[in-house]
Amino acid sequence: MITIQREKELRATIRQQKSQGKRIGFVPTMGNLHDGHIALVNRALHLCDYVVTSVYVNPLQFGANEDLEKYPRTLVADKEKLVQAGNHALFLPQTSQIYTGGLEEHTKVVVPNLTEDHCGASRPGHFDGVTTVVSILFNMVQPDVAVFGQKDFQQLAVIRKMVQDLHMPVTVEGHPTIREDDGLAMSSRNGYLDANQRKTATILYQTLQQTTDKLKNSFSSKPVNDDFALLETEARAKLTEAGFRPDYYNIVASDTLRPATADDKEITVLAAAYLGNTRLIDNISITL
Ligand code: PAF
Repeated sequence: MITIQREKELRATIRQQKSQGKRIGFVPTMGNLHDGHIALVNRALHLCDYVVTSVYVNPLQFGANEDLEKYPRTLVADKEKLVQAGNHALFLPQTSQIYTGGLEEHTKVVVPNLTEDHCGASRPGHFDGVTTVVSILFNMVQPDVAVFGQKDFQQLAVIRKMVQDLHMPVTVEGHPTIREDDGLAMSSRNGYLDANQRKTATILYQTLQQTTDKLKNSFSSKPVNDDFALLETEARAKLTEAGFRPDYYNIVASDTLRPATADDKEITVLAAAYLGNTRLIDNISITL
């Protein structure tokens, strides 16, 4: 695996690979890699001939009171995992290269509507930071395929919309969430949990499973709007009782991320909840 820090070197490498007819796969990450990230790299390796993974903790997507400073930086271990996986190039840009005009002055990419609710409501500006950095990275790497995890369901929807609206020549591939044995979705933020919180954390996925089981099995015909609202309230109460501070628990149409209605067939249950200061997110999609 080669490690690249400069845009010029990255562009030369990509040019050379493309001149040999190679398809470029790209996995953008913020590091602290776990099996969920490695699954994205494996998917990219399956779909493409040459895979670039970036590690960059993007300040633009963190709010003022969020965990930018303490976000885990584990580059040595990350490199080992990427080498094991067979990743070809690791791109490690600096903030001065990404935001050449400075963070405040920099051009931003904004996807309206899809970014307003759920994580967007509790993390104002977060998705503008994500779409801006992903656009910059896409322009630098020029991938044929980029792979993102479905754990960040809203992020994936927002990136798909950006790529479509801006006619970006990249195929966005979503990869199913990789889970620990007890069901907890893998996340770099799981490392913030103490032993008790780690045990409790699994209840988030269990609650999502209970909601989707009820959606599929508890209604003689299809659930209607009041049923969705009742299931959301029940789930929030269950999470609170278990020791979470629910941020949101929303049953939505999978394509628009708007509140689900009786007409929707593709449904996603999106959840975010705090354990102490750690914010966990997860989701399950079903077809009714
Ligand atoms: O999902 C992430 O880790 C980040 O939001 C991403 C896509 C790497 C952009 O910084």
